[in-house]
Amino acid sequence: MYGAHSDNGLRGDYRHAQADFTVDQRDHVYSDADHALWRRLYARQTQLLQTCACREFRDGLARMDAADGVPDLRAVDARLEAVSGWRLVAVPGFIPDEQFFRHLAARRFPVTVWLRKPEEFDYLVEPDIFHDFFGHVPMFFDPRFADYAQRYGEQALRLLERGALSLLARLYWYTVEFGLIDSDEGLRVYGAGILSSGGETPYAIESAEPLRLRFDLSRCMRTEYRIDSFQKTYFVIRSLDALAEVMTRDLSALVDALQAQPPLAAGRLYAGDEPVPPRGRMLAA
Ligand SMILES: [Fe+2]
Repeated sequence: MYGAHSDNGLRGDYRHAQADFTVDQRDHVYSDADHALWRRLYARQTQLLQTCACREFRDGLARMDAADGVPDLRAVDARLEAVSGWRLVAVPGFIPDEQFFRHLAARRFPVTVWLRKPEEFDYLVEPDIFHDFFGHVPMFFDPRFADYAQRYGEQALRLLERGALSLLARLYWYTVEFGLIDSDEGLRVYGAGILSSGGETPYAIESAEPLRLRFDLSRCMRTEYRIDSFQKTYFVIRSLDALAEVMTRDLSALVDALQAQPPLAAGRLYAGDEPVPPRGRMLAA
């Protein structure tokens, strides 16, 4: 995740960060308890993946070989770069939006160095290395997702000047963080916010409670989101090719038009929406 937070009150240690907010992961010490907690988090989430995560996520995770403890980012970095040209950079936590976009545009994914506490096993407010690494990095092994994220960063840098941060944040939120995909295995998850959460992973594809809508770029960018509970709306893409294609167009004119329109509430169905049923259920007549 990323966010336009001030440096005040953030959990990470920013004292030794470079101008681009990167740090050296080797300066951060992980205790035996940290590694044990990582293994517990990893084991719990991987149980859910076979039936809930898309194949591309599962394949990427397998390539990372990170079940045994908090990973050394440099070790995975080399494998990732060989496959998709992306690198991992260590950061203290949230970083400014513009810098975050700059990293993405340069095919660098920022990963927070610190790990949550045991009492935060199920929930924490700021993203930690488990969320950033386990949740996000597997998808960067897929070239289509990798291209989408880079193009998002490039466009976001340009569109920031047009005051489009809210629209950009919603798009990132509903794809990279909370995206669902139609696959040959049925409805599956590719979003990191879901896949790093024990509760939201089955909820997102099986619960009758939230709305699942066919992905539409304008609809998605106008829709507000929740940061304090499970999502009330999810957007379902037809394929990773289709997602990558969205970013090949210049979004300037669309963003200007959308900024003149009011946001849409999470969890509400609007005219023109195309609902997608949860897994194992039929839409009510
Ligand atoms: Fe995230």
